[in-house]
Amino acid sequence: MINFHKDHANLVNVALLVFALLSTGIAVAPALTMQDNNAPLPDMPKMTDQERRGLSVYVAEGCIGCHTQQVRNIAMDKTWGDRPSIPSDYYFSKERPNIWQATPSLLGSERTGPDLTNVGKRQASEAWQMLHLYNPRMVVKGSVMPRYGWLFQEVDSAQVKPGDVVVAVPADKLDKPGMKVIATLRAKDLVAYLLSLKQAPLPSGTVAPEFIETPAPNGKAVAAAAPGAAPAAVDGSAVFSQVCAACHQPDAKGLPGAFPPLAGSPVVNDKDALKMVDIVLGGYTGRPGYGPMPPQAENLNDDEIAAVINYVKSHFGNDAPPTDAATVKSQRAVIAPQSVK
Ligand code: HEC
Ligand code: HEC
Repeated sequence: MINFHKDHANLVNVALLVFALLSTGIAVAPALTMQDNNAPLPDMPKMTDQERRGLSVYVAEGCIGCHTQQVRNIAMDKTWGDRPSIPSDYYFSKERPNIWQATPSLLGSERTGPDLTNVGKRQASEAWQMLHLYNPRMVVKGSVMPRYGWLFQEVDSAQVKPGDVVVAVPADKLDKPGMKVIATLRAKDLVAYLLSLKQAPLPSGTVAPEFIETPAPNGKAVAAAAPGAAPAAVDGSAVFSQVCAACHQPDAKGLPGAFPPLAGSPVVNDKDALKMVDIVLGGYTGRPGYGPMPPQAENLNDDEIAAVINYVKSHFGNDAPPTDAATVKSQRAVIAPQSVK
């Protein structure tokens, strides 16, 4: 038997051994497996220098005070991503900016505004992001998000140089006629970062973590629809308010100079629905005075696109014959064949 009172060398050795075992067990071994868990996903693009600068602006401006970047594995988070977040999602953003600064903490715990994990996919329009940062209430009427006016410069139109990003502020909302609002480098970096926020697909063969359904009051999980049952009809008005209203506005009257009205639009009221199907699937650009509309093929499936088009065609004073999901499907094959929905 070792006598710790007499044999001090053994006391030290045993203490060292216990220390080594504990460190391996609680620190080294988990760290090694953590390394594997955090490996970047194969289809995850590296952050560009501009996006990394944008991340610093995001941290510096305290956006984390109101926005999370974590899709939790509970049913209410389904709207924020295609799957719950996993450690690998943070592989590039968790790099320390330099030796003096810690890893930016992006997860957040406050959701005064929406989760931003997938915002680059949900709201892929640079024009919208710029205008929203300049003044959130110009695009979302009741928004409580602060305006980040200091990320922009208000200049005389003569001072606009080629290459400047001019924010699509509706003319009647400018302080002075003839004034232009241009984005500073920090705004451009921040928007580049926001547009890069997209969940990367998991490699094929990986089982995605699942969302846990909210249990019904009786304690049982809410029953999934019986297999083979007809899927519930898509609510076009819901798709409109979730996707289109951000730009075309809830009353479909648009914002002059930024987003055209859908109320009374000749495209919407055209008897032939194909042009509108093509616009929603593939996006639309080219008319002077309006920024591009981002394609929705990756965001919405055929039923959702047909439903929202039919909703717009029969509301806001519009009156045109409806289309159907089969038409959307055949146009998808032409316009966005790579999109799977
Ligand atoms: C005081 C809370 C608050 C702060 C701070 C804040 N936001 Fe927001 N944000 C909101 C709210 C509320 C909304 C929803 C209403 C809206 O779209 O304006 C929102 C919406 C957004 C959206 C649109 C999300 C979507 O799903 O359409 C983006 C992008 C965004 N914020 C980015 C930022 C960035 C970048 C910063 C920092 C520069 C920031 N926010 C700071 C409250 C905040
Ligand atoms: C990010 C902002 C944005 C979102 C979201 C958006 N649009 Fe658009 N939309 C635009 C812009 C900008 C234009 C004008 C593009 C141009 O003319 O070059 C446009 C044009 C259109 C037009 C043509 C209107 C005309 O009179 O020429 C239709 C139709 C349309 N959008 C329907 C929709 C529908 C339906 C949705 C929702 C599924 C939607 N848009 C979502 C920005 C957006």
